[in-house]
Amino acid sequence: MRGNRTAVSLRVARESEEPTIIDCAAAPDALALRRALGRFATGVTVVTTRTPDGKLEGMTANSFSAVSLDPPLVLWNARRQAPSLPGFLAAGCFAVNVLHAGQAALSRHFATPLADKFAAIAWEPGLHGCPLLPETLARFECATAEVVEAGDHVIMLGRIARATQREGEPLLFAGGRYGTVTALPA
Ligand SMILES: Cc1cc2nc3c(=O)[nH]c(=O)nc-3n(C[C@H](O)[C@H](O)[C@H](O)COP(=O)(O)O)c2cc1C
Repeated sequence: MRGNRTAVSLRVARESEEPTIIDCAAAPDALALRRALGRFATGVTVVTTRTPDGKLEGMTANSFSAVSLDPPLVLWNARRQAPSLPGFLAAGCFAVNVLHAGQAALSRHFATPLADKFAAIAWEPGLHGCPLLPETLARFECATAEVVEAGDHVIMLGRIARATQREGEPLLFAGGRYGTVTALPA
């Protein structure tokens, strides 16, 4: 009897963990693929730039990734249809602002299309005039090193000219939700 109860609870656990398989050979179910990709937890950044004619652009991006230490390279990618993309391409530089756990509102702000996202936001000009947001955990001020077209996105590779960092808790993003770090017992 005791053995049976154990068997039942194990079966339930396995069923609830059944994976969803998305066949990507043909046109995949975009929602299902997005859900699968969303299982990968990331930090959250706001990438900013200043165009040659002085317009400030900024977008929330969790596609940021470290690439190389020597030379110092990072990347992020932008949706081809993003209104701010032409500005990033024309500028030739960008700044990556890494958000802390208390900056989810800033993330939402920069993820919303607006004529001027900087009107009601505190910022200061960094290298190349790219806007730097206050109190962020880290900043990477970059010259655009390479632009690679990749499907419906464009990969922007940047060479870091200046990096800044401070202590604090990062803002996380996973499964379409914001979160913070909960450390496991050592
Ligand atoms: C957490 C989060 C991460 C995002 N990451 C990206 C990203 O890496 N690349 C991208 O193109 N859009 C990303 N977006 C969506 C853009 O922030 C959003 O489309 C924004 O409006 C783009 O700026 P724009 O409208 O000024 O071009 C993300 C949104 C959120 C909420």
